[in-house]
Amino acid sequence: MPIDRKPEFFKGTQLKVGIIGCGYVGLPLALRFAEAGHKVTGFDVDPHKVTMLNAGKSYIEHIPQNKIQQFVNSRHFSATNDFEKLKEADAILICVPTPLDERREPDLSYVEQTAISIYPHLQKGQLVVLESTTYPGTTEELVLPILEKSGLRCAVASGPENENIACDFYLAFSPEREDPGNKQYGLAQIPKVVGGLNPPSGRAAQALYTQVVARVVPVSSTRAAEMAKLLENIFRCVNIALVNELKQLSLRMNIDIWEVIDAAATKPFGYMPFYPGPGLGGHCIPVDPYYLSWKAREYDFATRFIELAGEVNTAMPYHIVDAVVNSLNDHKKSMKGSKILVLGVAYKKDVDDLRESPTLKIMQLLQQRGAHLDYNDPYFPKLHKMRHYNYENMKSVPLNPQTLGSYDAVIIATDHSSYDYAAIADAAKLVIDTRNATRRVVRHREKIVLSRRRDSPPARGKRSRQAELFRRTDRPDRAIRGEIHSRAARRWQARLFREWRQRRGCSSSRRGTGGPASNGTPGPGGPGAHYQSFGTDRGRQRLRIRTDLFPAD
Ligand SMILES: NC(=O)c1ccc[n+]([C@@H]2O[C@H](COP(=O)([O-])OP(=O)(O)OC[C@H]3O[C@@H](n4cnc5c(N)ncnc54)[C@H](O)[C@@H]3O)[C@@H](O)[C@H]2O)c1
Repeated sequence: MPIDRKPEFFKGTQLKVGIIGCGYVGLPLALRFAEAGHKVTGFDVDPHKVTMLNAGKSYIEHIPQNKIQQFVNSRHFSATNDFEKLKEADAILICVPTPLDERREPDLSYVEQTAISIYPHLQKGQLVVLESTTYPGTTEELVLPILEKSGLRCAVASGPENENIACDFYLAFSPEREDPGNKQYGLAQIPKVVGGLNPPSGRAAQALYTQVVARVVPVSSTRAAEMAKLLENIFRCVNIALVNELKQLSLRMNIDIWEVIDAAATKPFGYMPFYPGPGLGGHCIPVDPYYLSWKAREYDFATRFIELAGEVNTAMPYHIVDAVVNSLNDHKKSMKGSKILVLGVAYKKDVDDLRESPTLKIMQLLQQRGAHLDYNDPYFPKLHKMRHYNYENMKSVPLNPQTLGSYDAVIIATDHSSYDYAAIADAAKLVIDTRNATRRVVRHREKIVLSRRRDSPPARGKRSRQAELFRRTDRPDRAIRGEIHSRAARRWQARLFREWRQRRGCSSSRRGTGGPASNGTPGPGGPGAHYQSFGTDRGRQRLRIRTDLFPAD
């Protein structure tokens, strides 16, 4: 006898919940539903994971074994690769990977394959929710047509007039915001955005999630929910790129970027700290923004912030390797033949996840430059072959003063909490700290590169020409002030213009055309060229930028 499931049905106790994809997202979600008293079945194509789960074992570092065991024993959780069992579920949640393919374009094959596995078993009144991060339109354009092959229908509709529109099954999108290893915010505390394909689907999904999270945030459509997740991740990606760029500038200017970020973070409104690092890592931030760039092309739209942020963040491993080369050079050593130890291959501290880890790129660049490389990571006793890298013969070396002292340089790539940074600085000859992990280390600061101590006195480096000019007189006269400002403005203008031309791929033969003239008057940009001025201080040259070449939309 088929179950009559109205949206309110999903408020009920002891629902049968099927979760497809028992990875970093799906497994915690499954355990949360089990904890709330529902009967959960995890579906996964990996038979090894299914066997481990049914034996009450965990394969994810931060998910405790006893939690799985507890719900397996109480029969609130089991795993299977028999997709026919989807028939029994009230709600089916999809948590499969959404990576990029070889050409760095969205690879939706996992989502597609999952929808294909569902539709032969789809039942009337079942709720299907896609949780995998993806571009706006995926639920409607990819998942819906496949599910409707079942013969059941779910209309795309919105507005109060469709409040009770009839649908054979419910379909929604609700992005996962899991942050593996985050002890402050677990799944239950993180608000969940939910968008239905139509109002009853939205209400059904809301009713379901209200049982397991503190707050559900309904939005008007699946597209809005898909876009919300991408906005969150693009926001991070762009802001990380910003601090990564400012870090490089600060190094040249002999300013401690970490001190600057800490100072700025004291502003109680309008600012949120982001920290520089060796590049982006993890399944989300280096990947998800490109889902939107790809989709934007369909609308003749270039997502320039995403591209620029990608450019800056992708360059970070190269910047780290340059810092290693320069530091070795200071020790009269070349990279070729040097012994280098990399600490931490995981993409972030205290997790056993190395997807898209920037350390893997740093290791590749070091090897290409002839370094003899070893690594240590408490979460990865050995490495394996990956899609872009092959480290299958590498094993984590033990950390002790003898091993640390035997390397020409030690790179802190991931700041795992278990590392004793003071002991590392004591024993190593040279430490390249990409994460400011050694900020509290007091001894041997002279060996540490890139990081600064929190309480370090102002750096005393080579004075810039500008500082020198100011030093010459306590009250620089008008002529000197003018020289300072116009030289700085000219340099800045020229650099911006150069970089902009490089990005647009202009040939050098056209140099000097179309840009602003250095005297501040419009350059030979031709009719219709628009400029915007920045900086109106007296005595300071105005920076003029052609706004018609950087359109607002
Ligand atoms: N990892 C995170 O921190 C995080 C955070 C937020 C969102 N997300 C998003 O969540 C989604 C899942 O990510 P994840 O980190 O859990 O991935 P994961 O690789 O850890 O887990 C995915 C699981 O799906 C299984 N799988 C693959 N194809 C399948 C299929 N056809 N049927 C059944 N199972 C299948 C895999 O065997 C694996 O166990 C992605 O879209 C990701 O972008 C991830």
